[in-house]
Amino acid sequence: MVKMLAPDGAELNLADVAAGARLRLNPVHWDFFAGGAGDERTVRANEDAFTRRRVLPRILRGVRERDLRISVLGSRISMPVLIAPTAFHRLAHPEGEVATARAAADAGTVMVISMAATRPVEEITAIGGQLWFQLYPQSDLGFTSAVVRRAEAAGCGALVVTVDSPVFGRRERDLRHRFVDLPPGLVCENMRDASGRVRDIEMDAGLDWKRISWLRGLTTLPILLKGVLHPADARLAVEHGVDGVLVSNHGGRQLDGVVATLDALPAVVEAVEGRLPVLVDGGIRRGTDVLVALALGATAVLVGRPVIWGLAVGGTAGVRHVLDLLRADLDQALALAGATGPGDLSCDLVATVARG
Ligand code: FNR
Repeated sequence: MVKMLAPDGAELNLADVAAGARLRLNPVHWDFFAGGAGDERTVRANEDAFTRRRVLPRILRGVRERDLRISVLGSRISMPVLIAPTAFHRLAHPEGEVATARAAADAGTVMVISMAATRPVEEITAIGGQLWFQLYPQSDLGFTSAVVRRAEAAGCGALVVTVDSPVFGRRERDLRHRFVDLPPGLVCENMRDASGRVRDIEMDAGLDWKRISWLRGLTTLPILLKGVLHPADARLAVEHGVDGVLVSNHGGRQLDGVVATLDALPAVVEAVEGRLPVLVDGGIRRGTDVLVALALGATAVLVGRPVIWGLAVGGTAGVRHVLDLLRADLDQALALAGATGPGDLSCDLVATVARG
């Protein structure tokens, strides 16, 4: 059923995969992938928040038949774990995002293609599977709409609009290494304009709700707003006609000191009152983490760094291994908590403790 073999037979969990990736990656690139903003308090807080939750399992529930499948934003997927958009996959593996997409398709889940992908969206969607496209809205509306049209034409099934980045976060590891640009030969392939010139990705400090309304009018693709933390913004998202919200702090890479995503999740879930799916990312490393996030009201979770680690360790097979580990871990956690699938999870199954 669930494959448990690591590409080299060694990695039993995501921490093992991270250790393997660290050995293989150029240390500057390792730091780019691992790092966050400022003192990286929020990077740590995301993972710590899960260690402050304890599962309160149910017993004698007859959990022989378990089903991890869910539907979200029109995509039917094999488990409630998706691949978060992350930049520059070719720094981790020569095939880059194409290798990641193959693993997502094999595993039956969604990969969100980053606007900062190092392979063109058309080459990634040619793999098949269910792919969504992440957008940093640019102040040049003509170019923004061209990128959206390109993602639509390539067959992307949803638009993930990142709204936590009016300016770049201060990533001190990268500053220390003077890592400011991709090595020669690699570019953000989806930033090419009509003339073939590759534009820099702009963080648009002018981005506001009016632009979300403009995007809503531009595309019929489902729109997922990525980077919602405050419940008032979740309510505004509902009013602006988006199709889902993603509780995210960009893996702690934007404003250091912001709340852990798991701590922000319950108030966002309450604010949207079931009108939209609420997804969450940040610090998810175990099946139990997925279980806890779903019990607190998330429809699904996304993972960022673990996918890069898998990619660095073994390309498609490495990413597949990361997804298989999470699937097997979640399946076992569900059984041990007395649940047969995501639909059985509710907040009474989670207790919060003061310290991890
Ligand atoms: C990211 N993230 C991100 N988000 C986004 O909207 N567009 C992007 O291009 C990127 N790029 C990116 C690169 C790297 C190296 C990382 C680690 C993260 C944020 C990402 O989508 C997600 O929110 C976090 O990675 C989730 O946290 P974990 O799973 O990495 O802890």
